[in-house]
Amino acid sequence: MDRQTPTPETQEAPTPEAEEFLADVLAGLAEPPYAIPAKYLYDHHGSELFDRIFELEAYYPTRIELGILRDHGPAIGERVGPRAAVIELGSGSSNKTRILLDSLREPLAYIPVEIAREPLTEAADRIQAAYPGLEVLPVCADYHRELRLPEPTGRPVGHLLYFPGSTLGNFDPEDAEAFLKRLATLAGEGGQLLVGVDLIKDRAVLRRAYDDPEGVTAAFNRNLLDRMQRELDAELDREAFSHRAQFNEELGCIEMHLVSLEAQTLRIGGRDIPFAEGQTILTERSYKYTLDGFAEVATRAGWTVAGLWTDRDQWFSVQLLYL
Ligand code: AVJ
Repeated sequence: MDRQTPTPETQEAPTPEAEEFLADVLAGLAEPPYAIPAKYLYDHHGSELFDRIFELEAYYPTRIELGILRDHGPAIGERVGPRAAVIELGSGSSNKTRILLDSLREPLAYIPVEIAREPLTEAADRIQAAYPGLEVLPVCADYHRELRLPEPTGRPVGHLLYFPGSTLGNFDPEDAEAFLKRLATLAGEGGQLLVGVDLIKDRAVLRRAYDDPEGVTAAFNRNLLDRMQRELDAELDREAFSHRAQFNEELGCIEMHLVSLEAQTLRIGGRDIPFAEGQTILTERSYKYTLDGFAEVATRAGWTVAGLWTDRDQWFSVQLLYL
């Protein structure tokens, strides 16, 4: 094979990741309304900011979900039944795992599924140390793709899929249904799913959760502009954009946008992208459900709502689905 001679004007060959990022950005900015896939918010720095979002007073979902799991732990454990194998999808640092394991009767196995290897192994070790009798079987994988799960050696009564954190909200309702169908196959006969579902509520509360007074969510959103500058050599003025969170009444989701504060032209990958003052880039949608609305999606995917727990204000719900 021929040796590749580096072209003199090329400083560094773009990585496949950078090429895909560029292609997605250019596709998203090809014509208005502009939109960039939300996954690009979650690079290393974005994930750090995201961990801080979880701690914010304004970001109610984490706090309220943990409160529900704590307050209704015994009832949840009762409904799930004994000797379950718990499979957590996108387990991260397994921050919401112990509160569940403590509620269950004789959980047999814990199978965290997480794409980031380091948090996965660290969390698995921590859980193993705290629950010596539990079989911990970490799986490093992207749960959006086909999954092969390890079989625990002890015989579990059934599989309990665990999907907390309102992560389901990142799917639009059609994709949520398709995803829930996949989970039904994964859970198998007698399987169950414990899922966190964020609910439609006062618009001001919703907006504040995604545009917090401390500005952490704004920094999280604007990190996308920094990435475009750093990784795509985009010519843009990050100060010429601001963060906005708005509720889309028609779709039933919170949207994050980057709003152009003036008429300007961005230059990315050799292309000029015009912005009028006030024109936006959609960067993330987070769907919120009514209890009936979610039950409908779950039913269409083959699940039955068997347990439903909420906080007093019905801001958030933890739901147990059966097949
Ligand atoms: C990761 C989808 C659960 O929508 O609440 C939080 C993402 N973005 N603040 C959410 C997010 C800005 C979060 N989820």
